[in-house]
Amino acid sequence: MIVGFENVGLSYDGETEILRDLNFSLGEGEFRFLTGPSGAGKTSLLKLVYLAHRPTRGRVILFGQDATAAEREALPALRRRIGVVFQEFRLLDHLTAFENVALPMKVAGVNQNQYREDVRELLNWVGLGDRMHARPPTLSGGEKQRVALARALVTKPDLILADEPTGNVDPVMGEKIMRLFIELNKLGAAVIVATHDLQLISALGKPTIALENGRLIEETAPAVAGARR
Ligand SMILES: Nc1ncnc2c1ncn2[C@@H]1O[C@H](COP(=O)(O)OP(=O)(O)OP(=O)(O)O)[C@@H](O)[C@H]1O
Ligand SMILES: [Mg+2]
Repeated sequence: MIVGFENVGLSYDGETEILRDLNFSLGEGEFRFLTGPSGAGKTSLLKLVYLAHRPTRGRVILFGQDATAAEREALPALRRRIGVVFQEFRLLDHLTAFENVALPMKVAGVNQNQYREDVRELLNWVGLGDRMHARPPTLSGGEKQRVALARALVTKPDLILADEPTGNVDPVMGEKIMRLFIELNKLGAAVIVATHDLQLISALGKPTIALENGRLIEETAPAVAGARR
């Protein structure tokens, strides 16, 4: 099992649980869309998966290990196997697009000769070949989003988490990005994509889980008409 939630609850204030009784599992090579209205807790759920938050109750299993019981020292090794596309990008403004994408490899101590081409290729693929040396403050929202996407993929993670990865790009780029996730999933990565984009979800026909009032509802086909109101 790549990700497992067992009766997970999360409260930010110690009183109200914004997520409760979450049970769900993601096996090797599986794909899930995660949907739900703004404020439903999609980002919070992803934070539990990449261990930025600990649940207030229940267990989170990651790569077959109980992450809630794991020693603090064991967490970085688990996190390194995850690529995250953050909703708010989290790029470093003083680094170029190239340097931002290369950063996870640099931090892992890999020699630049071993990743330079991969970084270039990824940036070309997301259409930023000519903006490689630009810094984030000079990029558009969609361009920043694509840098964040390339950075999440550069380490070839076993688990990819993407939080609204198409929120700032046009529909053509949005579909291209979603198809990339599906391609990476075919190559073996487990993938969770949080998105509001119900049209893309229904076009791609992948299993979807939805958050509603703090709980998870497993669905196979999203109810596009009902949810769009
Ligand atoms: N760090 C935090 N401290 C306190 N409350 C928080 C924190 N982060 C999120 N919340 C609250 O938890 C709820 C869920 O937020 P979350 O960001 O997970 O929703 P979301 O589904 O990702 O929304 P969106 O679609 O707008 O991105 C919201 O009510 C939000 O205000
Ligand atoms: Mg969010």
